[in-house]
Order: sequence, then C-alpha cells, then structure tokens
Amino acid sequence: MANKNLNAAKSAKKDEFYTQLVDIENELKHYREHFRGKTVLCNCDDPRISNFFHYFSYNFEQLGLKKLITTCYKNQERDLFSQHNSERAIWLEYTGDHNGNRVPDPEEIGINYLQGDGDFRSQECIELLKQADIVVTNPPFSLFREYVAQLIEYDKKFIIIGHQNAIKYKEIFPLIRDNKLWLGYGFKGGAGHFISNYEDIATAGDHRDGMIRVSGVTWFTNLEIPKRSEDLILYKKYNATEYHKFENYDAINVDKTSDIPIDYYGVMGVPITFMDKFNPSQFEILGLGVANLGLECGIGPYKPEHKKYRKEIQKRGAVDGDLYMMIDGELVVPYTRILIRRRPIPYAVDEETPMPMAAETDNN
Ligand SMILES: C[S@@+](CC[C@H](N)C(=O)[O-])C[C@H]1O[C@@H](n2cnc3c(N)ncnc32)[C@H](O)[C@@H]1O
Repeated sequence: MANKNLNAAKSAKKDEFYTQLVDIENELKHYREHFRGKTVLCNCDDPRISNFFHYFSYNFEQLGLKKLITTCYKNQERDLFSQHNSERAIWLEYTGDHNGNRVPDPEEIGINYLQGDGDFRSQECIELLKQADIVVTNPPFSLFREYVAQLIEYDKKFIIIGHQNAIKYKEIFPLIRDNKLWLGYGFKGGAGHFISNYEDIATAGDHRDGMIRVSGVTWFTNLEIPKRSEDLILYKKYNATEYHKFENYDAINVDKTSDIPIDYYGVMGVPITFMDKFNPSQFEILGLGVANLGLECGIGPYKPEHKKYRKEIQKRGAVDGDLYMMIDGELVVPYTRILIRRRPIPYAVDEETPMPMAAETDNN
C-alpha cells in the first residue's frame, strides 16, 4: 500500500504552485507599452487567489487596459491549494475602476459561472481566449505543450511561465527556431520560489516557508522586449584546440554561452542557456541536438563518416544521431546543444578579426 501511494504521488501532476506578485512585477515591468487598450486573459488562475489577477486589476488604469478576464479551473473555494472537487468553475471580468477609488471593488468585478470545469481547452474557455489580445499566466507545466499550441493556433500574444526544458520539446523548439516564441527576462539565478504546500527539496539556505523552489523556471513570450535586440558581447577567439569539431556534423562545440567565439561564422553547438541571450539579429538558430535523441528539427545532413563510431555510440547507450566529438581518443556526447550561426556583420571587429568570408569553417 505504501508503495502504491508513493507511485501515485510520483505520477501525480504537480501543477499546484502559485506565482508570487513580486515575480510577476519584475517580469511585466518590461512589457508595459504592450498593454494599452488591450484585453488580458489569465486562464489558469483562480481570480480570488491569483497574483496575476491582483497585478492586472490593481494596475488596470496605469497599464491602460481595456478588459481583464480570468478563469478558474474547477475549484470554487477560496482555498489556495485547490482540491479540484468542483466540476464547475467561474470566470471574472473586470473593466476598471468605476467609483473612482482606484481599487478593484467586489461590485466592480463581474462573476460568471462556466458550464464546465474551466479547462483552458474547453470550448467556452476558447471563446474567452478569442476575446483576448494578450494571455498572461503560469499554466500547468504538465500541459505546457498543449497550452502553447493553443495560443499559437489562436494567434495570441502571451507572457507565460514554463520550464527551460520546454525549449527542447519537439513541439516547442521549432517555434523558437522560427522566432515565434522566445525567452523573457526570467527569474534571478534561473530559479523561482512559488507558493505551494508541496514538499520543498531546496537546501536550507534556499528554503522559504510555504514555498517550493523550482530551478530552471523561466518566462516565455512572443512580445517584443528590448532584451531581444541586445547583442551578446563576445570576446574569445576561435582556436581549433579549445573548440572541438563534432565528428558527425559540420559544427564546433561551445561549452559555455560566454565562450562563443567572436570570429567564427560556421555552425556552433551551444548550451541551452544560450536562449537567454539570443538576439535574432546577431545569430540564427538552425537546430537542436539532444543526447540520446539525436538531431531534431531536420537540420541535416550529417557528415558521411557519421556512422564510423556507431558501435561505441551504441555501447554508451546513445543513439546514432547524437552529436559527438572525439577528445583525447574518448567519445564525448554533449548533453544538449542548440545549433546556431552568427549572422554576418557589415564591419570587421578589429584588424586581426577575419571577415565572415575568411573565417575558418569546414565549408571553406
Ligand atoms: C502552476 S499553477 C499556477 C497557478 C496560477 N496561474 C499562478 O501562477 O499562481 C497551474 C494552474 O493551472 C491549473 N490547471 C491545471 N489544469 C488545467 C486546465 N486543464 N485548464 C486550466 N487550468 C488548469 C492548476 O489547477 C493550477 O492551479
């Protein structure tokens, strides 16, 4: 019985953790100009407890919003930790302060009942989605793929929280590659504290009462933000000893985003943390290599000799398509690499820095 409970707990979708107001404020201060005259939807939020609802209702006038709609999933009790024991849910509508006290009063907030449980995929919630210009929330991580797919299908602007591992999802990566989705400003140190009664596994120094620490959490958006046009400052120069070439793909390996060489214009495999620094005028994204999955998103071709170390690759439990290098006779498969290429610049960085055409690549 104990084992059964343990397994049930392990497989349970841990979606009940709630965003702090300070984290919402820290991110959304970069997007203020996008909200004027817009309808905002928070569709995974019990408005009675959601800090997203709090943020938008209290900043309604400053942001110049037109309307705020918030939908609640199942639970109708004023309880932070949803029991999901009610099949009917509510949605709220707020159109701003009408009595001049600059506070969202209960009588100014329209409470409506949904027919179903408030699932963002239900037709009645989709009808509310259609009214929205910008969707802002922290959606259930377990449904992140479907959640984003729906936003894209209905052509919505959004600012949402997710895990950086989602960058690697085969449904999400093509959106990133094609500049339909990018990372926002994110959480300090790449981790956030969320209000939750789940057991916190953070170390004592990182623990906060009543919260869980989630590392790797970030913001995803398709709204333009200044960060996106800031160049990553590069300072290292390419050299063949430090930057190994993949055996099976015409690209070099770069272990740290800050080590991207200033003078290399061929394809580079960089860690996933690069996405936080990505400026589409500086780099283009070509593909993704994930250890044990191989290359994704059809960027091929592999070099003809890519099957040379096939047996050794299989012995390591990796797959044929994995990017790999030989370092001191050892076969090395990096965990995840985003394949990028520097966009040519119209000027030489200094006299010694070769222009793009002269840079050392396997194509030359
Ligand atoms: C990570 S929590 C965040 C809650 C809230 N957005 C916040 O940031 O405080 C995700 C929420 O989505 C709700 N949820 C789960 N499945 C859902 C669904 N199918 N449709 C709408 N909401 C859902 C969960 O009940 C949970 O409260």
